[in-house]
Amino acid sequence: MPRKLAVAALLFVSIALFSTASARQDMAPAQQPAPKPGQSAQRQPMPKPTNLQVLPKNIPVADLTATMRGFTKALGVECQFCHTRDPQTNKPNFASDANPDKGIARTMIVMTKEINSKYLSQVKDPDATPADKTVTCGTCHRGNSMPMPFSPVAGMGEHADHDHPGAPTPDKKPQ
Ligand code: HEC
Ligand code: HEC
Repeated sequence: MPRKLAVAALLFVSIALFSTASARQDMAPAQQPAPKPGQSAQRQPMPKPTNLQVLPKNIPVADLTATMRGFTKALGVECQFCHTRDPQTNKPNFASDANPDKGIARTMIVMTKEINSKYLSQVKDPDATPADKTVTCGTCHRGNSMPMPFSPVAGMGEHADHDHPGAPTPDKKPQ
């Protein structure tokens, strides 16, 4: 049992490492040669963004990279889910808007920002931690490119009444 667990953990770690490595390679400019073994791919200069329309134009490259990695994790996808590849070179073209999912993602970025700045900022709830007050892509997507429809667990929300028939629930106002 612990052995199985260790194997699973190792597999997970190598998958995580592999996806990071391939993302880094994708970030490398087209004319850069592949990194030599032992040489860190992260040292390669990132191309300066040329087509930012909703993210801050002066966003530090490290923050842009972190944001993009966050998208892949929140939606359970690879970079090319939103970015096209040049059919000739097979290199990603991050500045291109040819992939419609990139356009959808722009709308989502603006929507998410607005939920936080316009609405959640208005909610005065002493129980809420800053994390509670922040909607992210993952809040809705939870690792799926298309958010899953919510199906309530049968009986959920009715326990209080069934377990204590007649007992007043604090949230319920008297009829
Ligand atoms: C869910 C969709 C989505 C995913 C997945 C995604 N991106 Fe992006 N990316 C975008 C959007 C949208 C923009 C443009 C943002 C804007 O207009 O401000 C962008 C912009 C960029 C840019 C700037 C391009 C330019 O020149 O303007 C780079 C570089 C980039 N992404 C790299 C990546 C990498 C690398 C990954 C994978 C780790 C990735 N992206 C994953 C949606 C995505
Ligand atoms: C409030 C919930 C919510 C949040 C937050 C949210 N999304 Fe979405 N997203 C949706 C819903 C609902 C859809 C389906 C809408 C549709 O396709 O018409 C969707 C669809 C998408 C799609 C299209 C998926 C497909 O398979 O066609 C992309 C890409 C996407 N979202 C990216 C993002 C990114 C990136 C973020 C964070 C910046 C984000 N979303 C935040 C609810 C959300």
